[in-house]
Amino acid sequence: MDRIAIVGGARLEGEIPISGAKNSAIKLMAASLLSDQPLRLTNMPRLADTRFLGRLLSRLGTQVTETTGADGPETVLHAPEIISALAPYDLVRQMRASFNVLGPLLARTGHAKVSLPGGCSIGARPVDLHLKALEALGARIDLHEGYVYAQAPRGLQGAEIEFPFVSVGATEHTLLASVLASGVTVIRNAAREPEIVDLADCLNAMGAKVEGAGTDVIHVTGVASLHGATHAVVPDRIETGTYAMAAAMAGGEVKLTGARAVHVSALLDMLVKTGVDVAHDADSITLKRNGARLKSVDLTTDPYPGFATDLQAQFMALMSLADGESVIRETIFENRFMHVPELSRLGADISVHGAEARVRGVEALTGAQVMATDLRASVSLVIAGLAAKGETVVNRVYHLDRGFERLEEKLGACGANIRRIREDGEES
Ligand code: EPZ
Repeated sequence: MDRIAIVGGARLEGEIPISGAKNSAIKLMAASLLSDQPLRLTNMPRLADTRFLGRLLSRLGTQVTETTGADGPETVLHAPEIISALAPYDLVRQMRASFNVLGPLLARTGHAKVSLPGGCSIGARPVDLHLKALEALGARIDLHEGYVYAQAPRGLQGAEIEFPFVSVGATEHTLLASVLASGVTVIRNAAREPEIVDLADCLNAMGAKVEGAGTDVIHVTGVASLHGATHAVVPDRIETGTYAMAAAMAGGEVKLTGARAVHVSALLDMLVKTGVDVAHDADSITLKRNGARLKSVDLTTDPYPGFATDLQAQFMALMSLADGESVIRETIFENRFMHVPELSRLGADISVHGAEARVRGVEALTGAQVMATDLRASVSLVIAGLAAKGETVVNRVYHLDRGFERLEEKLGACGANIRRIREDGEES
């Protein structure tokens, strides 16, 4: 398995281009199942997760063509006919958001058999809200041997759906299923993440009628069919926030191009409190830190527009070197402190009590071998490595490859001493 080696201590100077958002791209790809005409997605990130989903969509009948357009990587997805409505365990297990093909398959063909995704390292991650929403839309749902069997032979019907708490995935899934339902669907207590707005914009470009995305009440007026469209994937706010924290950790001056400050305002406010200089315009953010030590601040994760859980591990890495104590509360997932023992291997002083971590800033971190069990935890170790003394080697790099496009290239271009050691021992 590939590893990433970082020799800490280099300041970062330069520009980092922000890619299209992984967590939007994979839902947009699923949307292509809703039409028999091609969906062209521009600003597409090339990631392990988009490849996994491309493989599944091909099995269902989608032609997936990756090209490079005038503005960079594109993917054209064309599903003239659904040849299978089965999403098998092996593929859903590799990438849980594959489960989101259930709604579009059901809406397009009236039936689907999709593996339940199971838990993952950050929590149990049930899909009960997804299934209740599909039932509310008139689907018959049966669970057998780890699979969801869904049927709606006469099509789905609009309904009033109120979620008991905010779920990004369930909101997206309900959108994907309801755009072809007859009548009006109202989604209350909807998630407000930029990825929801991106999905609604794409569906509307395909001829859907979705209003209110980005607020907590979304109205969908069902249409009989959707057509082809071209849609640019929203910039990745988690990649943006991650590199913002890399700059804060290493020091120097970094401009994140193609980034939307408004999507990471909770993080930028925090960074300003720690002592980082932040400036932005419509499509870039510049972060600057001189040699001064960062100040500790407390943090609680929340649904958007609150502080993203997907940036919590990176912020903890940052706080591990700050002056004072920081209390970090995780409110979205029950097991999202898996990076703590690994950060401790680098010399961080962190104790966990339930959903709360106390980070007592230390003067210095020291490089070591580390590994992590999920994507964001892995990248927090890269960030810590940028400031640690000596060499940090991050194992299990496949986690990083799921969600960060050309990570070592982007950081290396700004002066980080970072390289990939391939499984066969070759370095790049
Ligand atoms: C999305 O997961 C993201 N994944 C996650 O990013 C992100 O951390 C999360 O939203 C929160 O922002 C993708 O977009 C692919 P939720 P999702 O439904 O949709 C519980 C990353 O690193 N819940 O908003 O699965 C759930 O267990 C990933 O890129 C139910 O109980 O998150 C969690 O505690 C990790 N029943 C909470 O709700 C349900 O039916 C919020 O989860 C659904 C969710």
